[in-house]
Amino acid sequence: MKDIPKHVAFIMDGNGRWAKARKLPRNAGHKAGSEALQNIVEYANTLGIEYVTAYTFSTENWNRPKEEIEGIMSLLENYLDDAIKKSKRRDLRVKVIGKKEGLSNSIITKIEKLEKLTKDKKSLCVVFAINYGGRDEIVRAISKIIEEDINTEITEDLLEQFLDTNGIPDPDFLIRTSGELRTSNFLPWQLAYSEFYFTDKLWPDFTTADFDIALLDYAKRKRRFGKTV
Ligand code: FPP
Repeated sequence: MKDIPKHVAFIMDGNGRWAKARKLPRNAGHKAGSEALQNIVEYANTLGIEYVTAYTFSTENWNRPKEEIEGIMSLLENYLDDAIKKSKRRDLRVKVIGKKEGLSNSIITKIEKLEKLTKDKKSLCVVFAINYGGRDEIVRAISKIIEEDINTEITEDLLEQFLDTNGIPDPDFLIRTSGELRTSNFLPWQLAYSEFYFTDKLWPDFTTADFDIALLDYAKRKRRFGKTV
């Protein structure tokens, strides 16, 4: 396939509805969602995609019931443990974006450990957005610039250096599942020129075949970045 995007971002929506349709608890939906993500990441790696960013937990998700939050955090912790264990023989790089404040110390320690263990890995980079909100990220970036008393002109390049995504190219392609047509405070700065794709499939049902369909759609688009061609 030609015209493969370098960076694909996912809003993994519909886990709750997937579980409800099966009369399962919502956390069963999140578990199935994490498995769908692992399949997509492995497949993306075989396609030569360089970055996959997954909206895993937003700053607004703290408003969900305690039990659901604990379920997602425990999935996350299991993922981190497993990835730390496998980091020696796997070539994946892992990065986490979002606000550390609010996460448990145990999760923060594991994130830092995994990022350190995988920082020089050469294949796909998985970026987990955890406790992430786009507006929050921009506010934190501006606060850091002020804190460091930087006395140069504020430019786009300078601001980008203070975003959590510093060093990560902007997503070429955003995929949101479950039929919702919005971006929900996900990467508002970085998605400025990205192509968007929406599908009715619920995230746990999103397969590599669905990903292929989305990628074919992407390949047909003409990206102009504001220019006339
Ligand atoms: C949105 O579906 C999904 C989330 C808020 C959580 C996404 C998290 C995962 C897929 C688990 C990731 C875990 C690891 C370890 C990577 P929703 O609950 O809003 O679904 P609904 O709109 O149908 O209720």
